[in-house]
Amino acid sequence: MSAAPIAVYGATGHTGRLVATELLARSHPVVLGGRDATGLIELAAELAEGDRVTVRPAALDEPAELRALTGSAPVLIHCAGPYSRTGEPLVAAALDTGTHYVDHAVEIHHVKHLFDAYGTAAERAGVLVCPGLSFYGGFGDLLASAATGGATVVQKVTVGYAVSGWRMTTGARHTADQLINEVERITFAGGAQRIGPQPMYTTSFAFPPPLGDREMIGPFPTGDAVTIPRHVPTRDVEVLLTASTFAEPQVFTSEHVDAAERAQTAFTVAVDVRTAEGTRSAHLTGHDIWWAGAVASVEAALDLALDGKAPGASSGVHSPAEAYPAGPFLRRLEDLGAFVLDLPDA
Ligand SMILES: NC(=O)c1ccc[n+]([C@@H]2O[C@H](COP(=O)([O-])OP(=O)(O)OC[C@H]3O[C@@H](n4cnc5c(N)ncnc54)[C@H](OP(=O)(O)O)[C@@H]3O)[C@@H](O)[C@H]2O)c1
Repeated sequence: MSAAPIAVYGATGHTGRLVATELLARSHPVVLGGRDATGLIELAAELAEGDRVTVRPAALDEPAELRALTGSAPVLIHCAGPYSRTGEPLVAAALDTGTHYVDHAVEIHHVKHLFDAYGTAAERAGVLVCPGLSFYGGFGDLLASAATGGATVVQKVTVGYAVSGWRMTTGARHTADQLINEVERITFAGGAQRIGPQPMYTTSFAFPPPLGDREMIGPFPTGDAVTIPRHVPTRDVEVLLTASTFAEPQVFTSEHVDAAERAQTAFTVAVDVRTAEGTRSAHLTGHDIWWAGAVASVEAALDLALDGKAPGASSGVHSPAEAYPAGPFLRRLEDLGAFVLDLPDA
């Protein structure tokens, strides 16, 4: 009997294509979903995998089409952003059809909204909803869990994203525009989530060699500040991005470059977890944030498709580290070549 397929929404986009290609590389069937029927049919022809690929066009304002898509697979990987616009209709359809949901969201407001609005419904539906299982948001959340180990009191978690050579897609550009102009920022300080106007600031963060001390901007509005306090007993979370990332000339002008050029990112994600006993650090380093994020979502979705649940959670809304125990999951991604990992001893 052949495996049940995994549905990919936004399959015609850069992330969607990477995800579909990765699934097929593991001989796993896919259902290509999105609003552009012609583009989906062309993509299916390009992938040339015969009956391993099915096409199901579905517009966001057509709930029946969305349910037909989510109902065709036990798992959906949602790859079309900005998620503040596209997320909710897909989550609703997934809950209706009992389909596990994984997305690539950077947007902290979307991540918070899924926890606040869908936790109980996802449990009732027996469905796992896991937002931000990708590079931004996901890797910080997983590293924070791995670095914390068994610490029961944590003063502060600092997540530093160092990214160079980022070439944004149209979807990423729209997401970034929205995040940069956001007025209400969600942060976690003094043991509480805070929402309100907060200006961006610059500070420094010490990455492991060869990067060393870097000028950073914060608060970087990825989901980490919402997800990390769910599983790390910390008073503060600070999320930062290298200031040089947005100063590079190609970052906002590369919407139409090809996949090979877009793959030329270099990244380090480093997390410091400060406790009364000292600081525990973890980091990962690699190239191509898009591919690394795609592989993370694919591995997570394969667990859901093949085992019917994630190792850490079977239903409800959960962060990547809550659903996928961080050390083993990160090691698995390292084995696939997504990055090189440095974790503290357990
Ligand atoms: N967390 C991370 O590290 C991470 C990593 C990768 C991607 N992402 C996020 O994933 C999203 C997609 O990125 P990408 O690089 O794949 O962008 P992309 O190449 O521009 O593709 C965007 C996809 O979303 C679809 N889409 C956009 N608006 C839509 C709408 N209103 N209804 C239906 N489909 C819609 C597009 O469909 P059309 O082709 O019909 O326009 C396309 O398939 C972005 O929000 C990005 O921030 C995050």
